[in-house]
Amino acid sequence: MSSQSSFGRSLVRHKYIDDEVFADDVRLICSSQWLLADHESRIPDAGDYFLFQIGDQSVIVLRDKTQSVRAFHNVCRHRGSLICTEPDGNATRLVCPYHAWTYGLDGRLLAARAMPTNFEKSAWGLKAVQARINDGLIFLNLAESDPPDFERFLERLRPYLGIHQFGRAKVAVRKSYPTRANWKLVVENFLECYHCKPAHQTYCSVHDADKVDVLAAGTGFSGINIGGGFARQFVEWELAATAKGEFTGMFEDTPDSDHFQAALRLPIGKGSLTESVGGKPVAPLMGQFQDYDGTQTAIFFNPLSHVLASNDYAILVRFTPRGPMETDVEAIWLVDAKAVEGEDYDANLLTQLWDVTLCEDKEITENNQRGVLSTSYVPGPHSLSETRISDFVRWYLQRVPQ
Ligand code: FES
Ligand SMILES: [Fe+2]
Repeated sequence: MSSQSSFGRSLVRHKYIDDEVFADDVRLICSSQWLLADHESRIPDAGDYFLFQIGDQSVIVLRDKTQSVRAFHNVCRHRGSLICTEPDGNATRLVCPYHAWTYGLDGRLLAARAMPTNFEKSAWGLKAVQARINDGLIFLNLAESDPPDFERFLERLRPYLGIHQFGRAKVAVRKSYPTRANWKLVVENFLECYHCKPAHQTYCSVHDADKVDVLAAGTGFSGINIGGGFARQFVEWELAATAKGEFTGMFEDTPDSDHFQAALRLPIGKGSLTESVGGKPVAPLMGQFQDYDGTQTAIFFNPLSHVLASNDYAILVRFTPRGPMETDVEAIWLVDAKAVEGEDYDANLLTQLWDVTLCEDKEITENNQRGVLSTSYVPGPHSLSETRISDFVRWYLQRVPQ
């Protein structure tokens, strides 16, 4: 529960537009968070790689010859050129396009022409980036030393992740929604559903109206005086699910936490069996589910990385800061690894709800940024449905120079 929740205001203007603020944000976030990068089915074979880019940092994430996933800074140790320039591909060795210094998939420098005889290749391997896999999900941390403990980072999320078994999933579809807005505006938009009724007609056609009012108002929603109808429905559902031995639960970190995580299990409502337009299943059951039961799991790894999982599919959503007013929004739809496109699922039906919703989010967030750019902008007060943003703002301000 969000014991420290109280109502706040949006940030001051320069926090959403300034170059130096952005540089601090990226440096501090890179070093303190495990960032959800992708699903490991993106790189099934030795030599498969993709680039993960945050701010000005470019990271090569690859499958090495021992089938391990590894990550390296995409910066040549000669004079600093990018080595890989395509967003993904396959390579037996990593060859710099500038002067052809050549690296192995383990990051070791294998060849460098015309260097002095005392040149020690072993001292000039690629700089490693911390990478960890959990049940199919790839996480990166860019701290130069002592990244946060990965086990502790995942500890409380494991039961929520476990029921969906993403290690037995595959990527069905991925889509990008590059957004011309500061990452904090993108995150704030995702942390509240105050905008859902005005902005997300399709989303609201699937979800219970009372629930929409309280979503992301903080998991202490039963204690606030709106959305009472959903609070009652939630308690009834939780009692019934627990009696059947199903996993239920919720937690929400306070602004003092390291990662500002949250997770909860909840009913979708409105008779929807899954989170799809029309509420009907859009893919075969995945994970531990034996039936379509209309439940959903929401997991917030940190403000930048999220999962929303129904019985039949999951969507990974990651927000990656790229510039002061530029954020990559990437959505990755997962289905059971055995599901066959065209037979077991239709990619359009699978993605419809969140594709529409994320397109709408892109537009409203870009409008938000344009308004904040005006010198007439002053931070405005959060509503009762935006306590999670108030907490996020506090969490953020504790981590950056004032
Ligand atoms: S910068 Fe890469 S080989 Fe010269
Ligand atoms: Fe939205």
